Amino acid sequence: MTPVRDRTQAFCARFNLRLPILLAPMAGVPAPGLSIAVANAGGLGSCGALLMKPDEIAAWAGEVRGKTNGAFQLNLWIPDPPPRRDPAHEARVREFLGKWGPPVPADAADARPIDFSAQCEALLAAGPPIVSSVMGLYPPEFVARLNARGIAWFAVATTVAEARAAEAAGADVIVAQGMEAGGHRGAFEAEHAGRDLVGLFSLLPAVVDAVRVPVVATGGIADGRGVAAALMLGASAAQIGTGFLRCPEASLPPAWADALGRAAPEGTTLSRAFSGRAGRAIATEYTRAAASADAPPPAPYPVQRALTAPMRAAATKAGDIERMQAWAGQSAALARTEPAAALLARIWQDAQALLG
Ligand SMILES: Cc1cc2nc3c(=O)[nH]c(=O)nc-3n(C[C@H](O)[C@H](O)[C@H](O)COP(=O)(O)O)c2cc1C
Repeated sequence: MTPVRDRTQAFCARFNLRLPILLAPMAGVPAPGLSIAVANAGGLGSCGALLMKPDEIAAWAGEVRGKTNGAFQLNLWIPDPPPRRDPAHEARVREFLGKWGPPVPADAADARPIDFSAQCEALLAAGPPIVSSVMGLYPPEFVARLNARGIAWFAVATTVAEARAAEAAGADVIVAQGMEAGGHRGAFEAEHAGRDLVGLFSLLPAVVDAVRVPVVATGGIADGRGVAAALMLGASAAQIGTGFLRCPEASLPPAWADALGRAAPEGTTLSRAFSGRAGRAIATEYTRAAASADAPPPAPYPVQRALTAPMRAAATKAGDIERMQAWAGQSAALARTEPAAALLARIWQDAQALLG
């Protein structure tokens, strides 16, 4: 295996970075200020654009590019096939959710999600150095257009098979996402997201051995120890999500930020109860109740996401962590409240000291 220093230096040179640490794309936490701070401190900024309209994607990219050297990635979810709707089951879910928040209107899940092809066009128009995918692979025509513009494609994979498929489809970098990761699991098939749960210590070396392209490690990395371990296991860079969520630039609701600081690794849970897709969040009264035998199983994504919107909004407004959608990785308690640039510098300094 190439020595750590050669690997990280090659990655940094290729992607215009001063240190091999990436801010993770996090939909719902657009926080351009976080990306600006990370990019200006030598890392890679990031935008999870799932919930953004094309003009919002353009505005985000314009702002971050204007205040940095332009080192950022734009990220999209590859859509699942349209969900099968079941009005009778949705009625049971709405009734259940009505006990946790305001009544859920019967047409709550009828709105169409933002058009994926329009978002893809917005990505190309924004012209970032890197575009990333999660929950699947971009179609070949889109990959060809990325290539034609010199935009690199980072593909999230949660298993060795997904990593191989992503490399075969032309991904330039594989982002190996361990099951420790906060937020949604990037499994290509929704029904696989709750099984095939591979931790980063097993996934990372297996993916590094299985593909020829560079590998970025993500999931449960939140300090210098985690970064050093990931690089020792063969990663070319480490990507951190939850670890940046308590930085002031993230502007997280205080109840969520405080809960991260208190969460033991076993205090997070993989749940479909917020969106219908499995994601890791703080374990709360709601996630426990939704998983109990007498609760209706969540509707598929994105129906469940729409049905839980009134409860999630009410919980955020009330600062009620027990009903809030508080995504969190298993290393949440390592997240620090300091500004992102100082945090990033310290993490990299600690990692370098460990790597010798
Ligand atoms: C609040 C939140 C939102 C996320 N949204 C996305 C997303 O839109 N796209 C994506 O590829 N990954 C998303 N993720 C996953 C992260 O990119 C990354 O895999 C994860 O944060 C790594 O684990 P960590 O949180 O333990 O650092 C999200 C994670 C969090 C915590």
